[in-house]
Amino acid sequence: MRGIVASYFTEVDKPSNDSFHRRNPLRLISGILIGIAIVLIFVLLIAGTMSVSADAPGQLETRIMTRIKYWRIGGKDVPNPEPDTAEIRSEGAEHFQHHCQICHGLDGQGTGVPLVSKMSPPVANLASPRVQAYSDGQLKWIIENGIRSTGMPGWKGTLDDQEMWRIVRYLRHLPAAGSLGVPGVYKEEEEQHEHMRGGEEKERHH
Ligand code: HEC
Repeated sequence: MRGIVASYFTEVDKPSNDSFHRRNPLRLISGILIGIAIVLIFVLLIAGTMSVSADAPGQLETRIMTRIKYWRIGGKDVPNPEPDTAEIRSEGAEHFQHHCQICHGLDGQGTGVPLVSKMSPPVANLASPRVQAYSDGQLKWIIENGIRSTGMPGWKGTLDDQEMWRIVRYLRHLPAAGSLGVPGVYKEEEEQHEHMRGGEEKERHH
């Protein structure tokens, strides 16, 4: 065994012709190791300078992610089986106001929701041209599956297909921004804050 190893290394050390060089496995292995090391250094450099805070994403990141979403979100050609009537839309509005208002507001435009701009990426304005550019099938896909690493949850198992399609009908006819007021849960929060601030004022006057 030692003999084989020794003869291997002595051969490597020998001044060699080119065809030997090309087949030398040690060279190949060290080449691969150096390659891996370079990639690792780059990964560490990128990871080491990457921000993990919930600051608003920059323009470039937003543009790249928007592209990826239009490309990867499924259901593009699936038609909405629910009729587009006032009754169906108000059913959709009810589901929306039950499950989605906590982040999107009653109007889908974030009215009165303090966390809208604090999340990264921010909670989408569902009346915006960017969101309205999705097809009905894509909107249903988004509701069903959510969007990874954004805070937008998937509702598979919570909402059934019909409910999701009806929500999509509502999303196409959102009311004017602010017309439905502030979700109850945030109204209470505001009042409590006011109350606490009032209390502090009184304490200071004493
Ligand atoms: C916990 C907070 C939260 C809840 C609850 C929530 N969403 Fe979202 N939603 C988000 C965030 C954050 C985004 C932005 C995602 C992005 O920029 O990719 C978003 C984006 C969307 C989008 C647009 C996708 C895009 O490209 O921005 C749609 C449509 C949507 N939500 C529908 C809904 C519906 C319908 C419900 C209720 C069934 C709901 N959301 C509940 C946080 C939420």
